[in-house]
Amino acid sequence: MIKVGIIGQGFIGKMHLATLRQSSLAVVTAVADREPANLEGKAVGGNIAISGDISLEGVARYDDGDALLRDPNVDAVLIALPTYLHKEYILKSMAAGKHILCEKPLTRTSAEGKEVLDALKGYDRVFMSAQCIRFWPVYVEARNIILSGVYGKVLSAQLTRQSGKPTWSWQGWLLDEARSGGAALDLHIHDIDFVNYLLGTPGHLAATGADIPGEGISQINALYTYDGGPAVAVDGGWFHPGVFPFRMAFRMELEKAALEFDSRIDGDLHVYTNDENHLTPALLPGDGYSREHEYFLRCILDGRPAEEASAASAVESVALVEQECAAVRAIARS
Ligand SMILES: NC(=O)c1ccc[n+]([C@@H]2O[C@H](COP(=O)([O-])OP(=O)(O)OC[C@H]3O[C@@H](n4cnc5c(N)ncnc54)[C@H](O)[C@@H]3O)[C@@H](O)[C@H]2O)c1
Repeated sequence: MIKVGIIGQGFIGKMHLATLRQSSLAVVTAVADREPANLEGKAVGGNIAISGDISLEGVARYDDGDALLRDPNVDAVLIALPTYLHKEYILKSMAAGKHILCEKPLTRTSAEGKEVLDALKGYDRVFMSAQCIRFWPVYVEARNIILSGVYGKVLSAQLTRQSGKPTWSWQGWLLDEARSGGAALDLHIHDIDFVNYLLGTPGHLAATGADIPGEGISQINALYTYDGGPAVAVDGGWFHPGVFPFRMAFRMELEKAALEFDSRIDGDLHVYTNDENHLTPALLPGDGYSREHEYFLRCILDGRPAEEASAASAVESVALVEQECAAVRAIARS
């Protein structure tokens, strides 16, 4: 059993705690959070429901991440802190010699990401970016179908992600662009990262968006084109009132089939083939969180790098979002 410490017990830290509790490969030995109330195992607000409270009996509890990093009973650290703290805690976790799974976006800026990449050179522990959509069963299945080539090449794709305004975050950090990067970096990056993982760097990108002073680009509509390849439209935003139910969805047109998924409908992958069949392939069990944990933990046990979600690829995704934001602002200035 790998002993895991989670730094940050806000919304996603609690999600990780609840999910890791189900893992047969790990035990959560420690958690850390600045807010004493968050060390009581109670669910914290967010855009995806976490059911019930979680007992922290027998788990060491610290009032900051540095204290957790001094705990010798922690082999691997899961960094579930606000984005502007990622770089600092990645470097501190490396100094403590831990295996590291860090929440997305890897860092607040790609420049910080490059500092992390430099520091990681020669680091002999597992390092992974928690790009959970790469592990989300319906996205995994769509990617497998595309890579198999059975329905031909991708001609076009549309991906969307919409959430209620994140008023729940600690000290309001999510609604402060300086600390979060706004919806573009915090929310939309999930789909950009998946597109980059699936199709690689686009030949050209364009973007429009709604730029809210202080909060950042809160709705972004990006267009990626690939030389001789597909046209991809990706939109994301969190303009909606809190009662708006979270939605992620995609549609992809291939030469011989259309793929469709909508979290608001049934969460299945629908494959509509050109020979008039409608298939709903079986999906892997679990969700993106349990599957990314399993992959991270197996990499540690097998002593291999976490190539499916490397730091370098995560920095590329941050850089792509930065290019989109620059494009939005260039249009606004012109
Ligand atoms: N993969 C996903 O689906 C997903 C979903 C939500 C958030 N995230 C990412 O996870 C990260 C955290 O987001 P969140 O929504 O959980 O934020 P949050 O505001 O709910 O929680 C952050 C927590 O960090 C704690 N904290 C701050 N400084 C600390 C320190 N020095 N030591 C220990 N604890 C400290 C705060 O007290 C707070 O409880 C962000 O990078 C976000 O982008 C990922």
